[in-house]
Amino acid sequence: MNKPLSTLAQTRISCTVNGEPATCTAMADTPLLLVLRNDLHLNGPKYGCGLGECGACTVIVDGKAARACVLPIGAMANRTITTLEGLGDREHLHPVQQAFVEAQAAQCGYCLNGMIMTTKALLDRNPDPSEEQIRRALSANLCRCGTHLEILAAVRLAARLYRESLSHE
Ligand code: FES
Ligand code: FES
Repeated sequence: MNKPLSTLAQTRISCTVNGEPATCTAMADTPLLLVLRNDLHLNGPKYGCGLGECGACTVIVDGKAARACVLPIGAMANRTITTLEGLGDREHLHPVQQAFVEAQAAQCGYCLNGMIMTTKALLDRNPDPSEEQIRRALSANLCRCGTHLEILAAVRLAARLYRESLSHE
């Protein structure tokens, strides 16, 4: 029998989000995506399928791309989470964001959070990916507008800009 909502236990979770300490109180099985969007007002991650299949909700958890719609907040204690908002801002775009703008890789733009965050995670572990590695990394990110060729061009440009930014550090 389902428990009434009022008796379901809430848990207090502390983690790091975009470099800042964050705390929330929620039922442990609440999807991370809902906490990010509704409690922390971080709307970069998008709700697409809600099933872990489209990639629209992608964030980076402890350095790896992850699907926030299927990650329970209860598993996020002491984890480090980066959302799109943690990359750059309008005045200081991250190289991956800059590349997606320059390549004009969007139509509706709904998939771009996932494309950008997946690309960021890829380049962090491999700044010089091959075409095959790029395609494999993005193979489970869906774009319903069909801008895949522009997105691939954006990722190639992102890799170049990213390497240049590393060489200037
Ligand atoms: S909304 Fe999370 S994978 Fe589709
Ligand atoms: S640009 Fe519309 S879903 Fe990708």
